[in-house]
Formats: sequence, structure tokens, C-alpha cells
Amino acid sequence: MNNNKNILITGGNRGIGKGLVKRLCLSHNVIFSVRTEQLGQKTLDSLNDKNAKFIVMDVDHLESVKEAISSLKSLVDHIDILYNNAGILISGLDNNETALNTDEESIISTFNTNTLGVLRVTKFVEPLMKPGSRIINISSGMGQLEDMQDGHTAYRLSKTALNALTVILSKELAFKNISVNTICPGWVQTDMGGPSATLTVDESTREIVKFSLKDKFPTGKYLRHGEVIPW
Ligand SMILES: NC(=O)c1ccc[n+]([C@@H]2O[C@H](COP(=O)([O-])OP(=O)(O)OC[C@H]3O[C@@H](n4cnc5c(N)ncnc54)[C@H](OP(=O)(O)O)[C@@H]3O)[C@@H](O)[C@H]2O)c1
Repeated sequence: MNNNKNILITGGNRGIGKGLVKRLCLSHNVIFSVRTEQLGQKTLDSLNDKNAKFIVMDVDHLESVKEAISSLKSLVDHIDILYNNAGILISGLDNNETALNTDEESIISTFNTNTLGVLRVTKFVEPLMKPGSRIINISSGMGQLEDMQDGHTAYRLSKTALNALTVILSKELAFKNISVNTICPGWVQTDMGGPSATLTVDESTREIVKFSLKDKFPTGKYLRHGEVIPW
């Protein structure tokens, strides 16, 4: 893919999202989302780069997404790549509660952010996408059915459902030649991944960016470090 693409990254103020912003704004027009104006400005100041702008969006709320997309339209007339990155892991990696002990509220709110949030954003961004555009859903190995383990029920369910959503969207948007893939970023040193994670943000985002800018790009696949993995 050439330079100067218009790229939208959700949850760009910290962790993997910020890593993607930092890397991609070197040669592309990056718009990232944040939940407050202050966070957006702070992130922008730390980037020290003019190829990045931000919009305020909480993916949990439809009205917020609608407002954010109208701000987005005042910045760009189309989006070439959408990274659905914003996500939550409510209980944290230390709290490995069982399915039977997980309260429904945490399942519903995790689903609202990690799964429905992606659908909400995609619904309003897709009309801004031309044929050849790409959607990358940042999922997790914890949603992989082939390697499903116990614990972290809310998070696992939300990411397995996100993987299903990826396949559904890849089929539904094929007529418009929009590719939709899921990426597992690996275990990454962020607030969510914790300090013991095996990859730095820099290492993980290098692989994600390398894959997402490839000339030949698949659709309806689940990938980790550029390799297709089983669902
Ligand atoms: N780190 C890992 O090891 C790992 C592994 C597999 C998959 N992932 C996935 O990678 C993605 C990024 O994770 P991370 O490790 O970078 O997490 P992180 O450091 O906790 O950052 C999460 C980002 O998502 C944003 N966000 C959360 N809820 C949101 C909402 N309702 N609306 C808008 N933005 C929201 C946060 O914004 P605020 O600052 O406002 O909260 C923040 O920018 C997630 O989808 C995660 O599930 C991470």
C-alpha cells in the first residue's frame, strides 16, 4: 500500500492503539479516537507529529459514535484503513474468575465495548470506505476456540464473538471489495497486558503494521504476526 492513506484507530491514547498511531503517522494521515478532548491533546503533544488528529468517541455509546463520525467527516472524505482497537478486560489478567462466578454485568459491558463497539464504529465508517479499503479488528488469542481455556469468561466471549463478527463482515462487505480481518497482537506490555507480557508495544505494532500495509491482503482471516491461525 502507498503512503498517505487515511487511517482511523480507535483507542489511540495508550497501549497498542497509541503504538499504531505513532508508527503509522510517520507516513499516513492518522486519526485516532480518545474518550476525552484532554486525552486527545495530551496524546497529540506526546507524538510531536502533524500527520495525526483525534476525534472524541466512546464506542460504548451510539450517540457518541455518531457525533465522532460527523467530526471525522470534517477532517477527511474517506477512510482507507480502520483499526478497531479499543477494548477492555474488566477484571484484569490477575483475576481469573470462573464462568460460573462471573457476574452478568461484566459480561454485558465487556461485550458492549469489545464486540458491539466494533460493530457500531464499523457501521458508520463503512460508508466512508472505497473498494480496496481494509478493516482490522484487534482481537485476542483468548477468543480462539481452538485454544479455548478456562477463566476470563467475559473477555473470551467478547473476543470469540468479535472473531465471528469479522467473518460475517468479510462476507457482507466482499461485494464492495472491503477486506475484514482479525488480528491477535500477541501478549503485549500495556496496561491491559501487564509488565510480564512477552512483547513490547513496539514489537507488536511493527508486526501489525507490516501485515496491514501489505499489497496482498486476505479477508475473513484470523492472524498473529502475519500468519493465519485457526479460529
Ligand atoms: N495487551 C495485550 O496483551 C493484548 C492481547 C490481546 C489483545 N489485546 C487487545 O488489543 C487492544 C488494545 O489493548 P491494549 O493492551 O492496548 O489495552 P489498554 O492499554 O488497556 O488500552 C485500551 C484502549 O482502549 C480504549 N477504550 C477502552 N474502552 C473504550 C471505549 N468504551 N470507547 C473508546 N475507547 C475505549 C482505552 O481508552 P481509555 O484510556 O479512555 O480507557 C485505551 O485507549 C484491545 O482490543 C485488547 O483486547 C491486547
